Amino acid sequence: MENFVFCTPTNFVFGRGTESQVGKLCIENGATRVLIVYGGGSVVRSGLLDRVRTALTEENLPFGELGGVKPNPEDDLVRIGIDMVRNEHFDFILPVGGGSTIDTAKGIACGALYDGDFWDFYCGKAKIQKALPVGVILTIAAAGSEGSGNSVITNLSNMQKLSLRCPEHLRPRFSILNPELTMTLPPYQTASGICDMMVHIFERYFNNTAETSITDRVSEGVLMSIMDEAPKVMANPQDYGARANIMWAGMLAHNGICGTGVVEDWASHFMEHELSALYGVTHGAGLAVMFPAWLTVVSRINPHRAKQLALRVLHVSPEGKTDEEIIAEGIARLREFWHSLGLPITLKELGIENPDIDTLVRNLHIAKGEPIGNYVKLDRKLTKEIYEEAR
Ligand code: NZQ
Ligand code: ZN
Repeated sequence: MENFVFCTPTNFVFGRGTESQVGKLCIENGATRVLIVYGGGSVVRSGLLDRVRTALTEENLPFGELGGVKPNPEDDLVRIGIDMVRNEHFDFILPVGGGSTIDTAKGIACGALYDGDFWDFYCGKAKIQKALPVGVILTIAAAGSEGSGNSVITNLSNMQKLSLRCPEHLRPRFSILNPELTMTLPPYQTASGICDMMVHIFERYFNNTAETSITDRVSEGVLMSIMDEAPKVMANPQDYGARANIMWAGMLAHNGICGTGVVEDWASHFMEHELSALYGVTHGAGLAVMFPAWLTVVSRINPHRAKQLALRVLHVSPEGKTDEEIIAEGIARLREFWHSLGLPITLKELGIENPDIDTLVRNLHIAKGEPIGNYVKLDRKLTKEIYEEAR
């Protein structure tokens, strides 16, 4: 096991009706003027935004609002938010929504206290020294940004979608997780979120680090629970218990607990980020296509983890089978599972008939260098093979 630091200071407030506590939680975390950030309108339609306004007003907390965050969030709204903070002196950022909204809020939180352009942090030109506090009300179980120290933003000037990682400054102070708030999600978003959280675990599970049995078993347990709960939530979107388990799994998948002591991979995410930057696809659906393609190619070079996953999580029987057959059956089962949730498993099914693979590969290595990943180090010949495999 590798050395590690694992600090998750976020206060998770979980359960029915917990959004009513938001005013108190903001004050406990030093807020005097709150900027609410939200997306394209789901929180308006559900009445959640009104309830948040009421909760802040009850605590005499002044607030402003910035709506309009798009899925795969863009830099322009972050810049608008930064200007609002500077002009109107907000000292606390409150995203109400999903990963895109939370990531926009995190971009505002670090950019508002920085003299240069906030993009410097995302492209690695500068390191965050300080950021405004962020508190979250989550409405979709997916990206895990409610517990992570990450933010992913697309820069429209060069269409780079880059992930910033800074747990010291970007982990939320609190995250309100009410599973009922996820009951209005369209099935495709629920399914995409489930795939995203599973791949957050896979990005950590596929490693070459020795002696990590606790981390392995935690990861396998969360994965198997997700696979048990997912069909329930798809069959009955109002199933509170299933929604609750999926919501908590999304947090556990990405707050770092499933990656303690291991060298993580992240190549599938980098490859998907290029897809969502170029074609605007839903992140989790893009992963349902990219991850099995990645696994097919890398397990030919480094098979040990793919076999372990097939046997322990995907319940492939080893009887009379070669390692290659066990792995192939594991990958097929994973694809079948995501298909059963209504997700695409090829680029064609994702709506990309003629993928521009040369551009995807070029952009990928411009953004992330060469090689990428750790479980198998991928040069551009291999990343091209993976995009081809995904067709
Ligand atoms: O914008 P609104 O109207 O709110 O609608 C959203 C959006 O259309 C809708 N939605 C959310 N909650 C809803 C709802 N609709 C009805 N009822 C609800 N309760 O769902 C759509 C998707 O929202 P989004 O915030 O984009 O989803 P998600 O949480 O999957 O976030 C995806 C983004 O997070 C990034 C992805 O790359 C992508 O940009 N990621 C962020 C990470 C992080 N910060 O740690 C890690 C992830 O790997 C990921 O890369
Ligand atoms: Zn993800």
